[in-house]
Amino acid sequence: MLVLGIESSCDETGIALYDSERGLLGHALHSQVAMHEEYGGVVPELASRDHIRRALPLLQRVLETSGAARTDIDAIAYTQGPGLAGALLVGASIASGLALALERPLIGIHHLEGHLLSPLLAADPPDFPFVALLVSGGHTQLMRVDGIGRYELLGDTLDDAAGEAFDKSAKLLGLGYPGGPAISRMADFGDPNAYQLPRPMLHSKNLDFSFSGLKTAVLTLVRQHPGNVCYQDQANIARAFVDAVVEVLTAKCLAALQQTGLQRLVIAGGVGANAQLREALNAAAQKRGFRVYYPELEFCTDNGAMIAFAGALRLQANPAAATRNYAFNVRPRWPLEELPAA
Ligand code: KG4
Ligand code: ZN
Repeated sequence: MLVLGIESSCDETGIALYDSERGLLGHALHSQVAMHEEYGGVVPELASRDHIRRALPLLQRVLETSGAARTDIDAIAYTQGPGLAGALLVGASIASGLALALERPLIGIHHLEGHLLSPLLAADPPDFPFVALLVSGGHTQLMRVDGIGRYELLGDTLDDAAGEAFDKSAKLLGLGYPGGPAISRMADFGDPNAYQLPRPMLHSKNLDFSFSGLKTAVLTLVRQHPGNVCYQDQANIARAFVDAVVEVLTAKCLAALQQTGLQRLVIAGGVGANAQLREALNAAAQKRGFRVYYPELEFCTDNGAMIAFAGALRLQANPAAATRNYAFNVRPRWPLEELPAA
């Protein structure tokens, strides 16, 4: 079964073709980062308009590189939510229009399920059950995953998501948008002993997170340097910030493994691309004897492949999960726990 996946929930247009026998045939991505950069964050209306411009040319490219024709597509999966309403509507309407024209089944995919299952696209995928840490720009959640659609929330952030904290702290340091990769690179040049930032909720005895205080702590440090923060201070603050986030995320992952008795940890979402986090988790895994799985780097952040893949898994498990009613709707707010099991 050949599934077309369309992702448009935020500032990346992602298109992919996944075949349930042959695997991922092709994918293409357009990032709007350069367009939103001058505003310091995503401008929803600009995002929607850009998805309209990009989606069909990207689809054409994926078809060409995959050597497939439109009529080879058996089903169409699109990100139905959560995300920016206007941006989601673009992907949903294009998916529905194509499904209607090609007379193919259509399936709406939960964006976070796409992230959660993306490590299963890798060469050596984990078996169920596993603990998943979902760390993106909008979410920081620990989950127990027993199968497709069988997700139990173990812990959540009480305020900012980890990626949001990266982005806001990077902005305070003048490192641009989105700041995750920039602050991470900068941290490598920082002195780990220069500053100590708090480890929010490290000893909270539950699996919840809180990151908004860290951003305030970064602001306080930045204010201690009137005028321009020099390069070395930027690096030192970045290092203090990254060390704090990584220590908390790692400790909570270990606690989740202990609480569930599981030996497999899956990391998904944009912050999962973070080198310092991977290093800390790999070291902990080696020491404690559990295994940690990551998506391919290019599938950590938003992409169409994870949507096509999640669509294929759901349709394989239950063909009735698709619809031929092309009156689509989107779900900008959509708790993952509301998803049915496959
Ligand atoms: O999963 P994603 O692409 O989009 C959402 O669904 O939110 O995640 C984007 C987030 C941004 O906050 C970005 O700064 C962060 O992931 N990010 C990183 C890295 N790469 C992306 N954060 C830390 N280190 C990175 N290398
Ligand atoms: Zn995402």
